[in-house]
Amino acid sequence: MIAKPEIFGSFDSWLGAFKDAFRAAYSDSYSHPEGRALPGFHVCLAGGKTPAPLYSALAADPELPTYTELLPLHIWVGDERAVSPDSAQRNGRMIQEAFSPASGWPRPPILHPWPAGSAAWACAEYEKELAAALGPGSSAFDLEVLGLGADGHTAGIFSLAALEHSRICAPTEAPSEPRDRMSLFPPLLASARTILVPVRGPDKAPILDALSAGLDCPFSRIIGVRGRVLYLPESGGASV
Ligand code: 6PG
Repeated sequence: MIAKPEIFGSFDSWLGAFKDAFRAAYSDSYSHPEGRALPGFHVCLAGGKTPAPLYSALAADPELPTYTELLPLHIWVGDERAVSPDSAQRNGRMIQEAFSPASGWPRPPILHPWPAGSAAWACAEYEKELAAALGPGSSAFDLEVLGLGADGHTAGIFSLAALEHSRICAPTEAPSEPRDRMSLFPPLLASARTILVPVRGPDKAPILDALSAGLDCPFSRIIGVRGRVLYLPESGGASV
């Protein structure tokens, strides 16, 4: 089961709830930066289309530069496509472009993209980088943004069978192009202190209904009742 989705009637109210949750988690992290090999507010972001305008809004937020001066913002990527790093299909490229206005902040966000190379090699390297930054055993992210696929996938995890291992990062296969992916996995992916799932558009209503009826899928296994699903039913309208 998942928690009851929070439904929003406008882009602005959906964005406002997202930014409020982001700022609240950031403020909360000041009280427990200990235990990090690399002190900071460590966030793990989803790819796909839905969150891009939310990331752009964060990069344009007048308050966040003061937050990052107090505690550096580290941005990780929850899953990646095994395509060229400069491909428009790359999640790291979308995130970097969305946050590019923040490069002028006194302390800009630090992006940790997946390494370029084969999926197997990139997974091994990213796992090492995560362990070096988050601490032994890769303790939890402070905040995580995950997406919801119309088939119940999240991150790069498309089947329950794909969950049958205990690796932090692993290559995966998607049912549609680009098929070669790599993804973070539970328990790291499921243990973030705050999990936000922005969902948008009428095409996601059926999967939300199925989840509310108890569908067992990668999304429900990972988000459970801890994730806040922020749903904006309309897909058009304002976007930053
Ligand atoms: C990816 C994402 C993936 C995404 C969902 C929803 O690499 O595509 O990480 O898990 O979040 O597929 O995508 P949309 O937001 O585009 O619907």
